[in-house]
Amino acid sequence: MKKTILVIGASGMVGHVISLYFKEKGYEVATLTRSQKIFKDTILLDLKDELTLKTFLEQNDFDIIVNCSAILVHQSEESKNNAVFINSYIPHFLEAFYKDSATKIIQLSSDGVFNGDKSPYEEDRKPDTTTFYGKTKILGELDNPKDLTIRATFFGPNFHNGNNSLFHWFMTQKGLVKGFEAVILNGVTSLEAAEFIEYAIENELTGIKHLGTSNAYSKYELLQNIKKVFNKTEIQIIKDTEIQSDHTLVLSDYSGYSIKTLEEQLLRLHDWMENHPQIYTQYFED
Ligand SMILES: NC(=O)c1ccc[n+]([C@@H]2O[C@H](COP(=O)([O-])OP(=O)(O)OC[C@H]3O[C@@H](n4cnc5c(N)ncnc54)[C@H](OP(=O)(O)O)[C@@H]3O)[C@@H](O)[C@H]2O)c1
Repeated sequence: MKKTILVIGASGMVGHVISLYFKEKGYEVATLTRSQKIFKDTILLDLKDELTLKTFLEQNDFDIIVNCSAILVHQSEESKNNAVFINSYIPHFLEAFYKDSATKIIQLSSDGVFNGDKSPYEEDRKPDTTTFYGKTKILGELDNPKDLTIRATFFGPNFHNGNNSLFHWFMTQKGLVKGFEAVILNGVTSLEAAEFIEYAIENELTGIKHLGTSNAYSKYELLQNIKKVFNKTEIQIIKDTEIQSDHTLVLSDYSGYSIKTLEEQLLRLHDWMENHPQIYTQYFED
């Protein structure tokens, strides 16, 4: 029987793709977020209301919790108390709540737990970031024999009117934009994240795992690839070397799962977006 899944942070850049992906695959999916429903039955709940959250979890049974809630980099600086609560406390609240049950928590972490000056980063490397966001993400990582933490960087479209991601920023540009040639990463699309999570559930992956493409690339190359796949001929990308960092993650050997190349992932994301036009009107308006 297909497992029942709760996606927390379901309206986010990553959360909405994971929610839709599993629903369309026939899983029973419940969604929870703060302010924007993605399905009619999405639960709107502020995670800071711990009592209501606890009551909700007590009244419902889930096999898997995918925690996509987060306070991202800039908001973390602006609202440190909020960032510590959502990024660090909530994962451990969930871990403690489900400690004596079979429910598995899948926590999304970030390549931002590393400083970006000593790559490539293996899974057992001690995180060394100095950013506030990165520190809250380190604290929120779950490393136990039942749950799973996935470290990666993710990109993809926002759900309706969200406006906070790299992909969204690029897709809504015109004219000249900077592409950082010395910022290196091996991030994945939100769709690849969903597919990998399905593999991780089926293969019972636990502990801390890295996810990324086999070949790292620069942010300049990433933008060039998005431009090509999404035919954004109106954008011209200028190489820039102002910022330098390398967050390349070294992966475990996931037998039976082969991570797609950047171009393959973007082509699949393009198809995904075309198949869900009602969500992505902001990208296909003209
Ligand atoms: N975006 C990236 O570049 C990136 C890179 C590496 C790792 N990650 C990780 O990937 C995961 C998903 O990130 P994302 O980019 O999808 O983030 P996002 O688009 O900002 O989505 C965050 C989600 O969390 C929800 N949320 C925040 N505070 C909440 C609260 N108090 N109560 C209930 N829900 C709350 C948001 O709902 P509202 O919008 O209603 O507040 C939203 O649904 C995170 O763990 C992040 O750290 C992201």
